Amino acid sequence: MQKTREFHRQSIDDRESFWRREAQRIHWETPFRQVLDYSNPPFARWFVGGRTNLCYNAVDRWLDTQGDQPALIWVSTEVDQEIVYTRADLAREVNAAAAILQELGVDQGDRVLIYLPMIPQAAFFMLACARIGAIHSVVFGGFASHNLAQRIDDAQPKVVVSTDAGSRGGRPIAYKPLLDQALDIAGHAPEHVVIIDRGLVPCAMREGRDLAYAPMRARHLDAHVPVVWLESNDPSYVLYTSGTTGNPKGVQRDTGGYAVALCASMEYIYGGKPGDVYFSSSDVGWVVGHSYVVYGPLLNGQATVMYEGTPVRPDAAVLWRIIEQYGVNALFSAPTAIRVLKKHDPGLLHRHDLSSLERIYLAGEPLDELTGQWLSEALDKPVIDNYWQTETGWPILSAQPGVEEAPTRFGSPSFPVYGYDVRVVDEATGKDAGPGQKGVVAIQPPLPPGAMSTIWRNDERFVHTYFESFPGRMLYSTSDWGLFDEDGYWYILGRTDDVINVAGHRLGTREIEESVNTHPAVAESAVVGVADSTKGQEAMAFAVLRNPDLLLEDGARDRLEAEIKTVIEQRNGAVARPARVRFVNTLPKTRSGKVLRRAIVALCEGRDPGDLTTIEDPGALDQIRSTL
Ligand code: PRX
Repeated sequence: MQKTREFHRQSIDDRESFWRREAQRIHWETPFRQVLDYSNPPFARWFVGGRTNLCYNAVDRWLDTQGDQPALIWVSTEVDQEIVYTRADLAREVNAAAAILQELGVDQGDRVLIYLPMIPQAAFFMLACARIGAIHSVVFGGFASHNLAQRIDDAQPKVVVSTDAGSRGGRPIAYKPLLDQALDIAGHAPEHVVIIDRGLVPCAMREGRDLAYAPMRARHLDAHVPVVWLESNDPSYVLYTSGTTGNPKGVQRDTGGYAVALCASMEYIYGGKPGDVYFSSSDVGWVVGHSYVVYGPLLNGQATVMYEGTPVRPDAAVLWRIIEQYGVNALFSAPTAIRVLKKHDPGLLHRHDLSSLERIYLAGEPLDELTGQWLSEALDKPVIDNYWQTETGWPILSAQPGVEEAPTRFGSPSFPVYGYDVRVVDEATGKDAGPGQKGVVAIQPPLPPGAMSTIWRNDERFVHTYFESFPGRMLYSTSDWGLFDEDGYWYILGRTDDVINVAGHRLGTREIEESVNTHPAVAESAVVGVADSTKGQEAMAFAVLRNPDLLLEDGARDRLEAEIKTVIEQRNGAVARPARVRFVNTLPKTRSGKVLRRAIVALCEGRDPGDLTTIEDPGALDQIRSTL
């Protein structure tokens, strides 16, 4: 790993030369004056004065050399449809979408909220926003009306783009009623809603506000919308992510830094080159979908596969079938998907010719050793674990085969990636930890290009949330525990906060608790993440009822549990639905009133709850125990 280390060292010791060189990967309409402006820590401004455009770099720049080559390959096993868009087709669709937005009065800096399943129009509208300098905010389709309303109120979009329905397991899931509900409860009203009618379910349109996409597209199909050249630090998008409060944070991304960082990562981390085919099975509503379904591969002149479906339908060979059919070179997926595949016939792994596939990348949640090893041995391909966050936009820890083929170790996402000055820090003292010592994974700012620039309209919260965790030092805290060993391999050991990770989906327990608490029978609640052998974690809720006698009624326990799950599903979506809801008379708390979640999790996982000297009422833990 000598080369990787040296490459990393250069990126930190001589940040400016390193990124000046990498910046040559993209087209700058106006060259930048300054590589980095770090005069106002922790705010980093990359490629100051440079003017560029994400859509131009992802689409137009490749038209001459790759106009007739596949750019966006859409596969839906939900509606049994596959469409290959060449770069020229993509350009046409993106221009039409941009013309629609312009017709609706969307201007540079305006927000457009995209609430769509994995259909190509999601990518068209993201790129269309980028083209005209509008800021997109994609909301994950699995979220429901409450989450959606919060995001609408924070982002204040001029236009919302949505659809009649998504589909899961072959069954349509209506989107429009959830959107209508969200718009009813939101304080902010967008001027227009563009509806892509897939004909999956009947869809009521509201006069004056809702507009059908198809006729507008037809009208604008030959439009050419000029690119708006943005200053490198102009925002490209806001993507909401969960934290410790009930209010999600709008992670704001810049333009030039993001383009450069993603383009470089496609080669150094993902081993890609123009013309290659990249397949990330993530959803566009998550950061992986932004960086590695849409922008990364397209910026690097690669084709991207966008997949609507699950990894097991029509059968557990579907990912491998897609890889064979489209000659995929790199697959990016999540450990949960692989743990699910592991339960199926191993013969399915060998039904298809996977000779095009060079490597498999897994991220978003801890990759356990057994799963990593199983996949790598079964396919005889390298399996690379990479670790990062919505905030960073691209990997913090990963093997970097485009720099050097270094041996990986299962259970470890390998080494710090160039650009990230990563440390393990003692939470109490703020001092760097040595090999083998557990601490908080932190990054010495400035954060590299492509990482979040701030929290949308809330610089103060950005500084406070991320940079004020350690005494005497301004470091970016990932809120993950970790360590590195004597050989320089890193390990991630779980979150330090109340964020949980269910099947690779990052969820805030506080948001779920707020929903539980809206049930009229509930006084208070605690939601925790408990280890699950397939999904990594599952949510479990403990509720205290206003009137505990309610439980004496026949069937009350089951009825209340079902009602609470429904409330969560309606407000936060099916992804947040807890596996179980249990009732207790009191929650275990410290004397200062803080819920002892770590103790609850330990009990649920059959472990010792650890130090309980601060507990107010030790009987509260017995109650938790007795419900399990
Ligand atoms: O706790 C870490 C976990 O997922 C969190 C970030 O989730 P999200 O913002 O959705 O971004 C996902 C980008 C891939 C992290 O703080 N996490 C992510 N990757 C890994 C991981 N935990 C262990 N190993 C990983 N490879």
